[in-house]
Amino acid sequence: LDDDWPGEPSESYWRQQLDQAEQDLRQGEWSAALGRVSAPSLQTSARARYVKARALDATAEARRDNRLLSQAIAAYIDLLKMNERLSDKKLIEVTDRTLERIKFRGTYLSAEPVYKLLIRRFPDNPNYRNNLTVSLLMANRADLAETVLKETLKRWPNDHVALAHLGFILKTSYNRLEEAVDAFKKALEDQTGPANEPRFYYHYGDALLLLGRFNEAHEVHKRGAALGHFLSPNQRSLYNVERLKSKPWWNVENTPYTKLARALERSWRQILEEGESLRALYEKEKEGLKERGEWSQLDLFARGSEIPGRCKKAPVTCSIVRQEVAAVGCRRGQIKFSAMEAGTHVRPHVGPTNCRLRMHLGLSNTKDTYIRVDKETRQWQTGKVLLFDDSFEHEVWHNGTGTRLVLIVDVWHPDLTPTERRQLPAI
Ligand code: LMR
Ligand code: MN
Repeated sequence: LDDDWPGEPSESYWRQQLDQAEQDLRQGEWSAALGRVSAPSLQTSARARYVKARALDATAEARRDNRLLSQAIAAYIDLLKMNERLSDKKLIEVTDRTLERIKFRGTYLSAEPVYKLLIRRFPDNPNYRNNLTVSLLMANRADLAETVLKETLKRWPNDHVALAHLGFILKTSYNRLEEAVDAFKKALEDQTGPANEPRFYYHYGDALLLLGRFNEAHEVHKRGAALGHFLSPNQRSLYNVERLKSKPWWNVENTPYTKLARALERSWRQILEEGESLRALYEKEKEGLKERGEWSQLDLFARGSEIPGRCKKAPVTCSIVRQEVAAVGCRRGQIKFSAMEAGTHVRPHVGPTNCRLRMHLGLSNTKDTYIRVDKETRQWQTGKVLLFDDSFEHEVWHNGTGTRLVLIVDVWHPDLTPTERRQLPAI
């Protein structure tokens, strides 16, 4: 089988230049390699394009330079313009690296043409189609992902990976919950295989919860936990550090956050005043968590940074939380006011991560309001702090009157090391 690069120059001088450029590349002489392959006579040589892409790629990696990385990706794609003349082996080698670099760079939509080449070359392999679906979802293009999926399922109606993605799109883009459940059910019927991912179990169970099919949801959550996708059936966050102490309700006295809690409690009236004065800025909750009622929030900090300008408008609140770096620096949480109208019910749900604890300072109309975390339901009290782990399933009712206001302060889980607090990706 012909596994040579196409477009080899006919003159031996240029072929030797290419040999030399490859040698430069192997020896880490990336700029020398780039210099050699930039000769006009080599522009239609696949080997020259390959050396250029690899040299840019290696330089980008060594310098951690995203601009160079984008150039490397563009160079790989330039090489792939010759795809019809590349052997299967070469095509796979080049596309593997290109896709890997695109994912690292996070420019998922640019993977589309690359997958299309693979699909055209290997039309009988559904994996390339499924991977294209994943990339399109990562690029927030559920519309495009759906088109690909439908074609995949037309030909492979029982493909579990495709069915799992169908369930995901039906639930998260269209709220078509019954159909999503049916797709997930089929996709996850065997407990191994590539469709067996935590997020599919999460959305399968969550769709059942949203439909009020609690027994079935619990079965899915138990299965998910047994497979290691969840920390436990009731603690279903997906971004976790495994070893952290896990319990639904915390006593603030047993954490490093007593000082913060007491400072918040001492100033609760001023915090209430600030929270009320900002009511015009609150945003309605739009994740579909509430079954009925009205619920809106105002972030002061998110992902470890102040929302620009907010602290000017809530100076007392900010001056208190700024005393605790594990709160204002919590890149996996927020600090926010949360206003809930009477008659609201927030469905059972979980937060995204076990890396934070969630402190609530009760501010107003806390009578006849309830929060269940895992198996235990508690009540807010005005001027008092509650502390819980919102990676456990929780649910809220406002059966009282008036707007219930609380200040929510997320803090790093006390078991996280300083390095983890610095290095965990933000959420
Ligand atoms: C939640 O995080 O789900 C709720 O506890 C928030 C709130 O305002 O009660
Ligand atoms: Mn919540």
